[in-house]
Amino acid sequence: MSVPTPTPADKFTFGLWTFGWQAQDPFGSATRSAVDTVESMHKLKELGAYGMTFHDDDLFPFGSNDADRQKAIDALKNACEQTGLKIPMITTNLFTHPVFKDGGFTSNDRAVRRFALRKVLRNIDLAAEVGATTFVMWGGREGAEYDSAKDVQAALERYREAVNLLGDYVTDKGYDLKFAIEPKPNEPRGDILLPTVGHALAFINSLERPELVGLNPEVGHEQMAGLNFTAGIAQALFHGKLFHIDLNGQRGIKFDQDLVFGHGDLHNAFSLVDLLEHGGPNGGPAYDGPRHFDYKPSRTEDSVGVWHSAEANMRMYLMLKERAQAFRADPEVQEALKTAKVAELAQPTLSKGESYDDLLADKGAYEDFNADAYFDGKGFGFVRLHQLATEHLMGARG
Ligand code: GCO
Ligand code: MN
Ligand code: MN
Repeated sequence: MSVPTPTPADKFTFGLWTFGWQAQDPFGSATRSAVDTVESMHKLKELGAYGMTFHDDDLFPFGSNDADRQKAIDALKNACEQTGLKIPMITTNLFTHPVFKDGGFTSNDRAVRRFALRKVLRNIDLAAEVGATTFVMWGGREGAEYDSAKDVQAALERYREAVNLLGDYVTDKGYDLKFAIEPKPNEPRGDILLPTVGHALAFINSLERPELVGLNPEVGHEQMAGLNFTAGIAQALFHGKLFHIDLNGQRGIKFDQDLVFGHGDLHNAFSLVDLLEHGGPNGGPAYDGPRHFDYKPSRTEDSVGVWHSAEANMRMYLMLKERAQAFRADPEVQEALKTAKVAELAQPTLSKGESYDDLLADKGAYEDFNADAYFDGKGFGFVRLHQLATEHLMGARG
């Protein structure tokens, strides 16, 4: 069996900060030198990627003067023209510089909050300039270590104030740009605001322009909280809020590993790709946006390993897509799905026009219903179904 080759039609994108990471961590210094943005874009093109994303500070250092900033932007635009790579998403760094040590939008210090807003507004103009249609907001420093030090309700109010203002700005400017909030439970803060998909969904519903704001969930972030990522994505889709996605790998509840996609919980990666590709209302793709990788080439890797690992993300996705297709097409799987009554869940529990009075009058639903038949019988066969999925995942079937 061969591994499929990525093409731009697969819509794979990478953050400039991913392959560009020099591998410094809290315990050790960099193990690699800085990458050149333009060279990297040619490399991405060669590997079959569709586009690249970045934080303002990835492209031009914090505090760059206008001329240097513009030079970097022009070089990027040039490279886009030469390579055909797209910039579908950009984002703002509100976490590296010391000024953001207590956050940006929710810092206790009002002057910092105003500075953060100005940094983001400037970057929104840049998003429009480079043709990005999604603006990610990862609030890694929006949080606290000490309950006594942060008024969480006030912090959420300030977060809302900020996002409402940004919504007004893009609306007034007529930008074709939507926001995608990226939840994360912790790291770098001890506790981060909007820690999971569910928390962020509730927050979005409280905004003035909720239609402009969705989610950018990341595999590892939900898994750091012990949650099922595929289930979280299903709920984001259910609410129409999957605006973008960060794919990577994580092995259980620990620090944010940012492994290659599929190098963590492989079963969950399989169900995720199956959902994204086949979970739409008519069986087609449930999500047609970029498949964005937010991983980190491990600290052990040199520049050769960096690009191998970048490629590995795309290969994993494409292999999982193939396996998911074979899984769906297998008659034995179809039969197991039937036994498991998976499609039956799509059927409304009440019949058309049926009221609770009708339900109360239905003896078959209660008085004559044989609940005891579920003891020693009426198994769902979920394990067999999962075994079939696993056999497909391992390439043992069709
Ligand atoms: C992390 C985050 C970031 C964000 C990025 C874009 O845990 O460090 O995943 O990589 O995705 O800042 O907003
Ligand atoms: Mn992350
Ligand atoms: Mn991310």
